[in-house]
Amino acid sequence: MSSVSVGILGFGTVGTGVVHLLTEEQEKLQQQSGSHIHIEKILVRDIDKTRKIHFDDNRLTLDPDDILENPKIDIVIEVMGGIEDARNYLYKALKNRKHVVTANKDLMAIYGTELLQVAADHQCDLYYEASVGGAIPILRTLTDGLSADRIQKVMGIVNGTTNYILSKMNRESISYEEVLKEAQALGFAESDPTSDVEGLDAARKMVILSHLAYSVPVTLEDVRIEGITEISQKDIYYSKKLGYTIKLVGISELDDPYIDIRVSPTLLSTKHPLSSVENEYNAVYVYGKSVGETMFYGPGAGELPTAIAVVSDLISVVKNLNLGVNGHHIFLPKNEKKCKSPDSMKNQ
Ligand code: NDP
Ligand code: HSE
Repeated sequence: MSSVSVGILGFGTVGTGVVHLLTEEQEKLQQQSGSHIHIEKILVRDIDKTRKIHFDDNRLTLDPDDILENPKIDIVIEVMGGIEDARNYLYKALKNRKHVVTANKDLMAIYGTELLQVAADHQCDLYYEASVGGAIPILRTLTDGLSADRIQKVMGIVNGTTNYILSKMNRESISYEEVLKEAQALGFAESDPTSDVEGLDAARKMVILSHLAYSVPVTLEDVRIEGITEISQKDIYYSKKLGYTIKLVGISELDDPYIDIRVSPTLLSTKHPLSSVENEYNAVYVYGKSVGETMFYGPGAGELPTAIAVVSDLISVVKNLNLGVNGHHIFLPKNEKKCKSPDSMKNQ
C-alpha cells in the first residue's frame, strides 16, 4: 500500500482533533483513502506547551519551512487560523506543489479566489469544507449535490459560538459575558471572539457560501453585518413572550440580477425549523429553483466535528492522488459579480 505524508500547521482545538483521528482511526482512513497517512511535522507557536496529545519524537516544529519546503510532505493541513501568515504559508505550499486542506474561513473569504487560482495553476487540490458549518458537508452539497440546480436562496445559522450564547440565554437567566466564556472554554469561539459576536465570522461564511451557490466572486464589503453584542436578557424575554426566538441568521438571496447578503440577529417564529437549532449546532437552508427547499444540520464547531470535515477532505486529496486527478475539482467563480452593496441598501 502507498503512503502519503502530511504536515499540519497548528495543533490547537481543530489540530488536536485532526491528529487524534489520524492516529486513532488509521485503519479506517487507510480503507477509505487507499493509502497509509503519516504525520511528518506539526507547526506550533510554543513548543513547550502541554498538549492533549504528546509525541516523543521531534514531530513538533517552530519553523514553517520544515513543512512548506519539506520534499517528503505531499499535503499541508492548515488549522492555525489568522490571515496573513496563513495566506503566505499556503501560497508557498501550493507553489511547492503540495495539496492543501484548510479550515480557515477568514482566509478563504478574503483570499479564496486567489488561492484557488494558484492551486489550479499548479494542479493542486485545495479543499476547505471545515470553513463553513463545521461537520455539515455544505460546500460539497453546493458544488456537487445540488450543482445541477439554480440556487435562489441560502439562509442559515452558521456561527456556533453565537448560537450557543443565544440558546443558553434563552434557557437560563445567564448573562451574555458568562456564556461567552463557556463557549471559549469549549473551543467553539475564535481566538479573538470579537469576530464571532460581531457577526464577522458568520459574514465570512456567507461570502464562501454565496460564491459557491451563485458562482460569483463575493467580498465581505458586499455583506451587511450586525452581531449579537447588543442583545440583552430583556430582548430574549420579550421575544419569547411574543412566540419568537432570536438567532443570528445569515441570508444570501438572488434578487435577479443582484445578490443580497446580510447577517443579523433575527426574530424567528418558534415554528420556524431554524428556531430549534440549539447550542453550537448550525443549519443551512438552501432553496433551489428545481429542488425547492432543502436543509442541512449538524455540529458547527468543536474539536472532533470540525476535524471530521478536515480529515474527510484529506481523504479526498489522497484518493485524487491515487487516481492522478488533483486540481480537477477547483471551483472558480464563473459569473460576474452583481451584489447589492450595503450602502445602496441603506437607502431602501
Ligand atoms: P486554536 O487557537 O485552538 O489553535 C491554533 C493553533 O495554531 C495553535 O496550536 C497555535 O500554536 C498554532 N498557531 C497559530 N498561529 C500560528 C503561527 N503564526 N505560527 C505557528 N503556529 C501558529 O484554533 P482552532 O483550532 O480553534 O482553529 C483553527 C482554525 O480552524 C481557524 O482558522 C478557525 O477559524 C478554524 N475553525 C475552528 C473551529 C472550532 O470549532 N474551533 C471550527 C471550524 C473552523 P500554539 O498551540 O503553540 O499556540
Ligand atoms: N468560531 C466558529 C463558530 C468556529 O463559533 O462557529 C466554527 O467555524
